[in-house]
Amino acid sequence: MDGRTQNMTLPPLVYLLPIVHPAALCFPAMRVAVIGAGVIGLSTAQSIYEHYHDKVSPLKIDVYADVYTPLTTSDGAAGLWQPYLYDKGNVQETKWNKETFDYLLSFLSSPESTEMGIFLQSGYNLCTKHAPEPSFRDIVLGFRELTQRELDMFPGFSLGWFNTSIMLEGKTYLPWLMNWLAKRGVKFHHRKIHSFQELAESGADVIVNCSGVRSGDLQPDPELTPGRGQIIKVDAPWIKHFILTHNFTSGVYSSPYIIPGSRLVAVGGIFQVGNWSEQNNSVDHKAIWERACALEPSLKHARIVEDWTGLRPVRSKVRLERETIRCGPGMIEVIHNYGHGGYGLTIHRGCAEEAARLFGKILQQQAKASQAKSRL
Ligand SMILES: Cc1cc2nc3c(=O)[nH]c(=O)nc-3n(C[C@H](O)[C@H](O)[C@H](O)COP(=O)(O)OP(=O)(O)OC[C@H]3O[C@@H](n4cnc5c(N)ncnc54)[C@H](O)[C@@H]3O)c2cc1C
Ligand SMILES: *[C@@H]1O[C@H](CO)[C@@H](O)[C@H](O)[C@H]1NC(C)=O
Ligand SMILES: *[C@@H]1O[C@H](CO)[C@@H](O)[C@H](O)[C@H]1NC(C)=O
Ligand SMILES: *[C@@H]1O[C@H](CO)[C@@H](O)[C@H](O)[C@H]1NC(C)=O
Ligand SMILES: *[C@@H]1O[C@H](CO)[C@@H](O)[C@H](O)[C@H]1NC(C)=O
Ligand SMILES: *[C@@H]1O[C@H](CO)[C@@H](O)[C@H](O)[C@H]1NC(C)=O
Repeated sequence: MDGRTQNMTLPPLVYLLPIVHPAALCFPAMRVAVIGAGVIGLSTAQSIYEHYHDKVSPLKIDVYADVYTPLTTSDGAAGLWQPYLYDKGNVQETKWNKETFDYLLSFLSSPESTEMGIFLQSGYNLCTKHAPEPSFRDIVLGFRELTQRELDMFPGFSLGWFNTSIMLEGKTYLPWLMNWLAKRGVKFHHRKIHSFQELAESGADVIVNCSGVRSGDLQPDPELTPGRGQIIKVDAPWIKHFILTHNFTSGVYSSPYIIPGSRLVAVGGIFQVGNWSEQNNSVDHKAIWERACALEPSLKHARIVEDWTGLRPVRSKVRLERETIRCGPGMIEVIHNYGHGGYGLTIHRGCAEEAARLFGKILQQQAKASQAKSRL
């Protein structure tokens, strides 16, 4: 087909423009560099695309990471939607957790749910002594106290709750997210980033820092520390409920838990703050196994498939904020989104949406600044 026929068959360009409010089309080209391809980096790229691809022309998004699925922390995690029992007054995180739960729930009845790796799952939370009800009792489905007959199944525990929650398996969800983004023109770069300047020099206007536990490499953050976890994945298809125990003396997730996934069951209960080792440890393996078998004796018949060790990005709270950083001769806008501890999958969508709102504020500010300039 030559140029002339093309001109005749195609409608005038104006018909191809999206029908949106004129004011919505006002932002000039933007290049966003996302550091990190775990659940946080990928979902943040998705939220920014969803909200702004039709308002910024063009919007170019690049993801930079030295580790991709299936090797990130987000891939190894058990994948249960489960915040810590108490939010310690951090109601913002409770809200982001709820947003994520509701978002995932809205996909459950769609055909995409299997491709995304989400499904409903019920189970038990057990405590050895009296404890107040967790702040997410109103988020999960069918939250209730355990009956005496249920407690009788778990000797040593005097109180607990039963509810239905959602599983979100990183090993399925991350490929789904990458595919979603790739289809929309997002580019992936396999490399380690050594400085923000490197990205600024390659033309990025905004950097989104979703580097998980290693964020400290780029700019020290004394508040960020690893919470080492080790889990044993076993073949035990008869286990249909999650069982989480809580020991308020030993601390969060330092007490046995059993979480069935779509294929394997994750058995854990290790949370070592400050330990950077990603090696499997045989002493930890033995401790996890003995305590889990005491909780659920049928595990003794399970076939052990593998061990996995991962580092939770532990922080007093998620760091989700903007910062303008001096970078060589100019300034660059950075959005931080890291420090999701043992609940990154649980909170990811709420945080991604918040990061996208911060991105929108940067756009508005820059548009105002350039209007002011052009009036001079
Ligand atoms: C044993 C265990 C069980 C868990 N179970 C659950 C669970 O059931 N439910 C739940 O919600 N959460 C769970 N978690 C927590 C969850 O895994 C984390 O909160 C989550 O994976 C953090 O996601 P992220 O994207 O921030 O980090 P990651 O998945 O670690 O991704 C970080 C990304 O940043 C990249 N990166 C870092 N530095 C650089 C750099 N300088 N240059 C280039 N790229 C860089 C990496 O390559 C990687 O792509 C568990 C964690 C562990 C350890
Ligand atoms: C309900 O289930 C979620 C995960 O499914 C769990 O994190 C939470 O602790 C449970 N709720 C209570 C009150 O135990
Ligand atoms: C990027 O995030 C990491 C945490 O993943 C943090 O330690 C680091 O300070 C951040 N980098 C910058 C430049 O702010
Ligand atoms: C709780 O943890 C403490 C400290 O690690 C330990 O001494 C205690 O035995 C644990 N309690 C139960 C019921 O496991
Ligand atoms: C950290 O974990 C490794 C591997 O399990 C272990 O060998 C080491 O002793 C631990 N270090 C600390 C300080 O706990
Ligand atoms: C931990 O063990 C699994 C097999 O169970 C292995 O695949 C993995 O490489 C081990 N991790 C390390 C760091 O050695």
